[in-house]
Amino acid sequence: MNWNGVIHQYRHYLPFPDNMPIISLNEGNTPLIKADRLAELIAPQANLQLYLKYEGLNPTGSFKDRGMTAAITQAVHEGADAVICASTGNTAASAAAYAARAGLRCLVLVPEGKIARGKLAASLAYGAEVISIDGSFDDGLEMVRQIAERQPIVLVNSINPWRLEGQKTGAFEIVDQLGGDAPDWHCLPVGNAGNITAYWMGYKQYGKGRPRILGGQAAGSAPIVTGQVVTKPETIATAIRIGNPARWRQALEALDESNGIITAVTDDDILASWNLLAKTEGVFVEPASATGLAALKQQIEQGSIDPTNKTAVCILTGHGLKDPDTAVGQASPPHTLPATIEALEAYLTQ
Ligand code: F0G
Repeated sequence: MNWNGVIHQYRHYLPFPDNMPIISLNEGNTPLIKADRLAELIAPQANLQLYLKYEGLNPTGSFKDRGMTAAITQAVHEGADAVICASTGNTAASAAAYAARAGLRCLVLVPEGKIARGKLAASLAYGAEVISIDGSFDDGLEMVRQIAERQPIVLVNSINPWRLEGQKTGAFEIVDQLGGDAPDWHCLPVGNAGNITAYWMGYKQYGKGRPRILGGQAAGSAPIVTGQVVTKPETIATAIRIGNPARWRQALEALDESNGIITAVTDDDILASWNLLAKTEGVFVEPASATGLAALKQQIEQGSIDPTNKTAVCILTGHGLKDPDTAVGQASPPHTLPATIEALEAYLTQ
C-alpha cells in the first residue's frame, strides 16, 4: 500500500479541501505491536490483550508529526513566513522538520538544560533557531502565545487547533489496526494535554467505539491529578515536565466523557516500565513514553482496572534515541575486554 501521510490517508475526516497542497513527511502508519510477554507480566493469566502504538517511528521520532503536518500545511495555506513554539523538545524537532520542508523560518523556545540531547540535535540539524530560556516550558508557552499576537508568526503548539486535527488520526489508525474496534483502555502520558484531547476527538469522530482513557502524569509534574498548577515541575521524563497544561479543561472532559482515570506515577515507576518495554519486548522509548504503561500497571496493581479479557493500547509517544543520556545513565557501563578470542571465551563461560 502507498502511504502518503495522515492527511492524505484520512482526508475525509479532516477539514482540508481536496486541492490544498499538503506538507508531509509520510508520517503515521506506525506499528501497533502486540505485547504478550509484557501483558503476562503486568496481569498474569488475565488474558489481557496489550498493544504498543510505537509513535517513536514517526519521521522525527515522535507523535508530534501527526499534528505538525496539519499545522504547517495550514500555516503555508495562510501565507505564513515563520512559525514558533515552546517545547520540551519533540514539538521543536517536529516543527523544525516540517518548517524546513515548507521553506518557513522556525523559532523554538526550550527550557535551558531540560531538553533531551536527541531533540536538541534534531532541532538544530533541521535549521530551527533554538532559543534556550531560563524558565520552564510553561514560561515559554506564555512567551510564544504573546509574541504570536504581536507579530506575524504562527504558533504551532497544540493550542493551535490544526495540531489536534492531525493528531486525532492516531485514534483512527488504532481502530483500523484493531480490525474496526476501539480498545477497552487507551493509556498515554499527559503533559500539555494536547494528545489526550486529540485522541478523544478522534475516537468520537470515527464512531467505531470509545475506549476508557487512562492518563499518566509524572508525580513531580501532575497538575491535572492534584488539581493545582505546579510552579516548579520536575521529572526525569523531561518531555512531560509541565506544570500548567494548555488543554487542561479538554483533558478533564475526555476523562469525564470516557469514564477514564488520570493518575500520577513516580519517576521510579516510569523507569521500571521503560525498562520493561525495552527488555521484555525490544521496544526502546524515551522515558515519558513509558508513563502510559506505568499508569496501567499501577491501576491493575491497585485493583482499579480489571484486566481480565480486556484490550489495552499504550501510546509510546517518542523514540528511545531522543534521550540517549538517560538510557546510558540508567545502565551499567559496557564490559571491556582485550581483543582476543580467549578473553571472549573466558567472559562467556565465567
Ligand atoms: N510524550 C512525549 C514524548 C512528549 O514529547 C509529550 C509532549 C507528551 C508525551 C505529552 O503530550 O503534551 O500532548 O500531553 N511534548 C511537548 C513538546 C510538550 O514540547 O514536545 P501532550
